[in-house]
Amino acid sequence: MKILSIAGARPNFMKISSLADAVKEHNAESSQRIDHVIVHTGQHYDEKMSDLFFRELGIPEPDINLGVGSGSHAVQTAEIMKRFEPVLLEHRPDYLVVVGDVNSTIACALVAAKLGVKVAHVEAGLRSFDRSMPEEINRILTDAISDVLFTSEPSGEANLIKEGVAAEKIHFVGNVMIDTLLKHLPRAEEKSRILEELDLKDERGRARPYGVVTLHRPSNVDNPKVLRSVIASLNAVSQQLPLVFPVHPRAKANMGSMGISLAPTIRTTDPLGYLDFLKLLANSRLVLTDSGGIQEETTILGVPCLTMRENTERPVTVEQGSNRLVGNDPEAIPREALLAMGHEKKTSTKPELWDGLAGRRIVRILLEL
Ligand code: UD1
Repeated sequence: MKILSIAGARPNFMKISSLADAVKEHNAESSQRIDHVIVHTGQHYDEKMSDLFFRELGIPEPDINLGVGSGSHAVQTAEIMKRFEPVLLEHRPDYLVVVGDVNSTIACALVAAKLGVKVAHVEAGLRSFDRSMPEEINRILTDAISDVLFTSEPSGEANLIKEGVAAEKIHFVGNVMIDTLLKHLPRAEEKSRILEELDLKDERGRARPYGVVTLHRPSNVDNPKVLRSVIASLNAVSQQLPLVFPVHPRAKANMGSMGISLAPTIRTTDPLGYLDFLKLLANSRLVLTDSGGIQEETTILGVPCLTMRENTERPVTVEQGSNRLVGNDPEAIPREALLAMGHEKKTSTKPELWDGLAGRRIVRILLEL
């Protein structure tokens, strides 16, 4: 069997890592070899947004890099499609595997569907029901043209069935990103020196109380009024709990051009690698984010998470985890932060099948099909 998988933007890399591990494991144990070709679209290209993740997670070097870089949605999506088509024609895999909801996901899925190559979508069925989010459009379209839909939580299957997807195409396999987290957490705790580097340890070597911020959604960072308000809320929270903020390039550019500054109690860093970020999350008291994946990671780590969005496509993190939606409300953010700080750290919760084995289930099902 030959599969070709797509890695485009940062949140894809942890998911591809689980898949690559599962293929490697299968090939070590079985005579029925799987040929795995990895294509990087180049949507994310900075060393700290891309290469560092491949090295730290031991993902094989991409066989091909399309080098598309940044652009408007139309330009980026079209450029990926143009450059990917000849690659797919050359390799003709049995399955194209796409993960998540970024522009690279829909662009490559669309090319494959038109060429009659079967598409498998990992993390299918997630819905925020907010079509102003570019990712929601990518999710709906990718699922509509996929042949095999791998879901990570129960809401995924329910949403797909409502949209008319045949039940036999849907496979509940668990969460590949959590496979990667569970595999690398002990190594992150042992190897990463990020707490020392940021002076977050006390004299007895224990982590001082701090929170972590991430912010990159267009709905939060592209509008000056909203970004100013969100930063004012974070500045207020940081008076109670010092914050560490690894700044995404989109947020950095916008804060710069809008002249928005942070309180000195918010420590900024460049984007962090996987192991440093995981260690930072795992030892924090509170996380404030608008990321999708971090809502899931904090659920497993048992760290209170305030999601600065009106909705989530990952409801299991609110139902079972420690996630709360706070939008960009300047009153709710500091209030909920204060409440969350008063809580003891939860023991981690494991939604069904978030057990480290999702990648293996995917490989097994693709072989059976
Ligand atoms: C993309 C995904 C988003 C995901 C996020 C994670 C889409 C529609 N969005 O958003 O779902 O949560 O990645 O980071 O696919 N830039 C750099 N260096 C890089 C990459 C980007 O400087 O390596 C800058 C560029 O100025 C670029 C901007 O960041 O224009 C945005 O990058 P882009 O990939 O378009 O979207 P993200 O906001 O990163």
